[in-house]
Amino acid sequence: MATEHTLSIIKPDATARNLTGKINAKFEEAGLRIVAQKRIHLTKAQAGEFYKVHAERPFYDELCTFMASGPVVVQVLEGEGAIAKNREVMGATNPADAEPGTIRAEFAESVGENSVHGSDAPETAAEEISYFFAGIEVVG
Ligand code: CMP
Repeated sequence: MATEHTLSIIKPDATARNLTGKINAKFEEAGLRIVAQKRIHLTKAQAGEFYKVHAERPFYDELCTFMASGPVVVQVLEGEGAIAKNREVMGATNPADAEPGTIRAEFAESVGENSVHGSDAPETAAEEISYFFAGIEVVG
């Protein structure tokens, strides 16, 4: 399997509860390397642009308000099959459906406030990484 990069976001519910270290330990234990990272506070417009694929969904406004409600940590994870591996470590979107031991099973509060985001495919990973990082900032 090829080495991939994927975008990971530690969401405001998790930064508020001081969980960034515990969450990143899960990624590192799974063999993923954090090769770019920054803590930022998105505006609602910036969150809206990032999640524009969901613009027609009923939860879009709530999602954008939440993502702008506090700091987030945006990061690039690197590894063999990193996109799928990240999604495995995160667990299902709804924590009620997440496998035991996954980040969302352990830490997420609800489907909306679910602690982490991860890219879902190679094309979206490339697009999402470039939304937050210049190539020179990704250091593997
Ligand atoms: P994420 O992986 O960041 O991608 C889109 C997000 O929309 C998703 O995680 C959830 O946090 C959020 N989301 C999905 N379904 C709902 C819902 N029914 N209500 C609120 N937020 C949702």
